[in-house]
Amino acid sequence: MSLQERILALETEVKTAAADTAEAVERFRVAYLGRNGAVTALFDDFKQLAAEEKKALGQRLNQLKQAAQARLDELKLAVDQQRDERAGLDDPTRPAALDGAGSLHPITLVRRRIVDIFAHIGFTVSEGPEVEDDHHNFGALNFPPEHPARDMQDTFFVAQGKGVTPGAADALALRTHTSSVQVRVMEGQRPPIRTVSPGRVYRNEAISARAHCMFHQVEGLYVDKGVSFAELKGTLDHFAKAMFGPEVVIRMRPSYFPFTEPSAEVDMSCTICAGAGCTVCKHSGWVEIMGCGMVDPAVLSNCGIDPLVYSGFAFGMGVERIAQLRYRVPDLRLYWENDVRFLEQFSAEAFRG
Ligand code: PHE
Repeated sequence: MSLQERILALETEVKTAAADTAEAVERFRVAYLGRNGAVTALFDDFKQLAAEEKKALGQRLNQLKQAAQARLDELKLAVDQQRDERAGLDDPTRPAALDGAGSLHPITLVRRRIVDIFAHIGFTVSEGPEVEDDHHNFGALNFPPEHPARDMQDTFFVAQGKGVTPGAADALALRTHTSSVQVRVMEGQRPPIRTVSPGRVYRNEAISARAHCMFHQVEGLYVDKGVSFAELKGTLDHFAKAMFGPEVVIRMRPSYFPFTEPSAEVDMSCTICAGAGCTVCKHSGWVEIMGCGMVDPAVLSNCGIDPLVYSGFAFGMGVERIAQLRYRVPDLRLYWENDVRFLEQFSAEAFRG
C-alpha cells in the first residue's frame, strides 16, 4: 500500500472511530497519535521519501494528523459531558430543570375560571360532602318519592348496613348534583345568599365518549328580596361572554327541574362555527351549556326561607362540558386517562390568572 493509500484509509478510520468511556478515548489516542501510533508511524515513513513526494504528501499527512486530533477532542468532550451529567444527578445544589414542570388539569383550569367569573360579581364559594343523605340530595329539592333519579339505576347508593332500601329517607348516596350544597347553605344562612358550589358528582351511567359516572359541576344560587328571572338571564349572559368571548349570545328554552319553577336550559351560540352550523352544534348553531330556573317556593320553605319575602335563582353546569366547548375536547374519557400528550397541551394555560 502506498503512503497515500494508507493516509486515506487511516483518515476514514479516525473519522468514524467511536469511544464512550474515558479508557476508550485514551486507547484511541495511543492507537493513532501515541509514540507508536499509526499516524505517528506514517511520519516516520514520510521521512524516507524523496523531496518531490514529500512536497506532494506533506500537506495530506498534516491534514490526517489534524483530523485525528479533532476526533480525539470531540470524543473526549462527549465523554466528559456524559460524566458531568451523571454527576449532576447526585448534586443537590444543581439548579432544578424547569422544562419538566407539569401543568394543571383542564378540569381544574376551567373550574377555577368559572368560580373566578362568579367571584368577581359577588358570589362566595361553598362546598359540601360527596356522600350525601336523601334529604339534601333529593327531598329538600322537591324530588317526589317516586322520582326516577332516586332509583338505583341513576344513583350510587352507599350500603349502610342491613335493611336500608335505596331511596329510603335514611339512605346515603354519592351526590348526583351539587344542588345538595345549596340546600345546606340555605339551611345555615339567611338571605342575601349568593354562592357557587363546585364539586364532583356521580351518576350511574355507562362510560362513553359522551357520558361518565363521575363528573364535575359548578352550581350557583342567589336568594334575596325581589330576585328576578331577568337577573338570572343577565348573570348567565355575563358568564357566557366572560368564559367564551364578548361575541357569544345565549338563549333559554323552557325545561323542567323539580327544584326550580320556571326552569330553563341555556344554549349558547356555537363558538366553533359562530352559528353557521357544524358537527359540534349538530348544525343548529346552538350548544347547550347548563340548566337553570327560579328556586321553587317549596324548596325555599323546605330550607326555612319564607318564599313570600324572598325569591331566588339557581343554575348548574358541567365543568367537563364547558371545558369541551372551550378546548374542543372530542371525548370525555380524555379527561380521565392522564395521557401526557393530552395534558401537555394545557401547560401554557397553567399560570394564567
Ligand atoms: N342540578 C341540576 C343538574 O344536576 C342543574 C340545575 C341546577 C338546574 C340549578 C337548574 C337549577 O342537572
